[in-house]
Amino acid sequence: MKKGNLHTLHGGDLDEISRIYGIDKKDILNFSGNVNPLGLPLSVKNAIINNPDAAVNYPDVSYVELRRAIGEYTGTDHEHIVVGNGSTELISLFIKITAPKKALIVSPAYSEYLNEVKLSGGSAELFPLRDEEEFRLNEERLITAVTDDTDLLVICNPNNPTGTYIDCAVIKKLLAHCKETGTYVMIDETYVEFSDREKNVSAIPLAKEFKNLFVIRGTSKFFACPGLRLGYGICSDEGLLERINKCKDPWSVNIFAEIAGRTMFADREYAKRTLELTGRERKRIYAALKEFKNIHVYESQSNFFLCRIEKEDITSTQIFEELIKDNILIRDASDFPYLGSRYLRFCILDENSNTLLLNSLKKCIE
Ligand SMILES: Cc1ncc(COP(=O)(O)O)c(C=O)c1O
Repeated sequence: MKKGNLHTLHGGDLDEISRIYGIDKKDILNFSGNVNPLGLPLSVKNAIINNPDAAVNYPDVSYVELRRAIGEYTGTDHEHIVVGNGSTELISLFIKITAPKKALIVSPAYSEYLNEVKLSGGSAELFPLRDEEEFRLNEERLITAVTDDTDLLVICNPNNPTGTYIDCAVIKKLLAHCKETGTYVMIDETYVEFSDREKNVSAIPLAKEFKNLFVIRGTSKFFACPGLRLGYGICSDEGLLERINKCKDPWSVNIFAEIAGRTMFADREYAKRTLELTGRERKRIYAALKEFKNIHVYESQSNFFLCRIEKEDITSTQIFEELIKDNILIRDASDFPYLGSRYLRFCILDENSNTLLLNSLKKCIE
């Protein structure tokens, strides 16, 4: 791999980083993957350990029990839920099935949306969130940008990499407008459970009313299980769900992910501990960074922060290189559209690790 691509690998590409820098994976403090530092819930570990022989069976091809568990967790009818091999499979399937000729992607955003639109033969326009607006959505501008030609609007909420969010009341206005223009709306809520305003952010309660809405959720980040590959989609257009299910490979969610899913959503204790840790550290890190010279931090409703370096003679790539010497891995965000060589992103880990990062970062920029 060319070194130029190195800093902008997907957050989870620990193996590649480990090979290139010669650091053992387990010695890397990974601030780039956005994964919950509490690790896999104990309830899930036990459920898997106690069922090793489950592997001799195929999973339920319709995943009824798993979808019921998700239904209970999200307050949704299980008939309106589809499960996938990570949220990635569902992003891909939904775009393939709806085959938008023209998509509008609120950006900077997770790169897979654009990749999938291109792969499905469509074209995408990027709708810019602006630095001078702190990367918060300007709803009037977006409504004007969605026209009768827009087949699909893609939103990540809260957004990766900015951490900003859109209130559910604004989403409702957007959905009503998109219904008029005949536009599907795909909302990726991979990070919504980390928000302390989840109820005001999630669009799931709107799915019944708006058949043009497809909400995608993953489990990789909040339940710390990217290796299990479990995601789900919620939509009240049963015809569309049927088309997605027809296109999907059978058993794409493996049986251990199925067992994990039937356990994790009921683990309220784990969710509570996660929110306590994330909420507390989000406040502490934000306050600390506000006091730093030469850096601007954006408010976040997620488990990560985007920052802009304000020192002329240092780039995010140089900071990446400096921090990796201390085995600290952050995301050089310079390759995201509308960002550039001064932006970096890092997630919230445990208190000690976060302090280490803050200290190392301070050394680099002050
Ligand atoms: C916004 C967003 N959506 C989806 C994904 C992919 O997640 P999954 O592991 O559920 O496929 C990521 C991974 O980084 C992400 O940041």
